[in-house]
Amino acid sequence: MRAHAPDIIRRLPELRARVASWRKDGLKVAVVPTMGALHAGHLSLVSQAAATGARVIVTLFVNPRQFNNPEDLAAYPRTELADAAKLATLPAGLGADVLYVPDGATMYPSGFATDVVVAGLSEGMCGAFRPGHFTGMATVVTKLFTQTGADLAFFGEKDFQQLKIVQRLAADLDLPIEVIGCTTVRENDGLAMSSRNMRLSAAAREVAPVLYAQLQAAAAQLAKSTAFSAVRAEATTGILAGGYQAVEYLELRQETDLTPITHATGPCRLLVAAWLDGVRLIDNVPVRADAA
Ligand code: PAJ
Repeated sequence: MRAHAPDIIRRLPELRARVASWRKDGLKVAVVPTMGALHAGHLSLVSQAAATGARVIVTLFVNPRQFNNPEDLAAYPRTELADAAKLATLPAGLGADVLYVPDGATMYPSGFATDVVVAGLSEGMCGAFRPGHFTGMATVVTKLFTQTGADLAFFGEKDFQQLKIVQRLAADLDLPIEVIGCTTVRENDGLAMSSRNMRLSAAAREVAPVLYAQLQAAAAQLAKSTAFSAVRAEATTGILAGGYQAVEYLELRQETDLTPITHATGPCRLLVAAWLDGVRLIDNVPVRADAA
């Protein structure tokens, strides 16, 4: 099939008019929120959205309110032209129809005063180390949902805590949208794709996959019902020995509501954040206890 370049829309009234015309034709609408610097992980969300038959809106907005660190915001790559070009390589039927690129004033008009705070789920792990991050994220995602009026939203499991928070807010606020989680896309050596990977030095990029390797080894141990305290100690040592400078957190949580647990029972996840070469990387894997 031929590749198809998405139309770029920057204004909310134009976006709403486009969505209204799709609705008139009886079409469903899917949204894939992003901060740009697109890679194959983002593109997989777009293709999964398009495969449902819905019209697909990719949003591109580097949301200042979810950056707790101004240097991180300043360093965030801004590559709109390259992003549009990448979307244009996707075959028709697996690509985006619209790339929505709102400006700051569209998202946060003067006097903006509303926060979406998802209690509980936002508090541990990344929430503990990045104060305000999840409130900024939840607020912008809620706006993107109401601006697009989409029926479906596609999010990566790469950011598992984010996915759970977004599912919670959509349910709590009765937003008529289904939030679908998609498997993490990885480089050939196992490193989870991330726009932050491009900040790693060549030497750091070489050792980066140790994070996923240690998660997998830990998940295999947990599946044999080894206590998490022992598994955590061993995996932390392995990550540091592999070249990472610090492990921010390494946690075992129930998948349903991210409750901390001490042994793998039921569907659960192992989640990690660690620092390599001045770059903060996150990853997670499912843990499935061996059938007795
Ligand atoms: P961003 O980091 O650009 O990610 C956009 C979407 O791509 C998220 O749903 C994320 O989980 C997904 N994603 C990133 N890497 C992935 C990978 N390797 N495999 C599969 N999916 C992956 O997450 C955000 O932006 C922002 O917080 C946002 C939701 C856009 C709100 O500002």
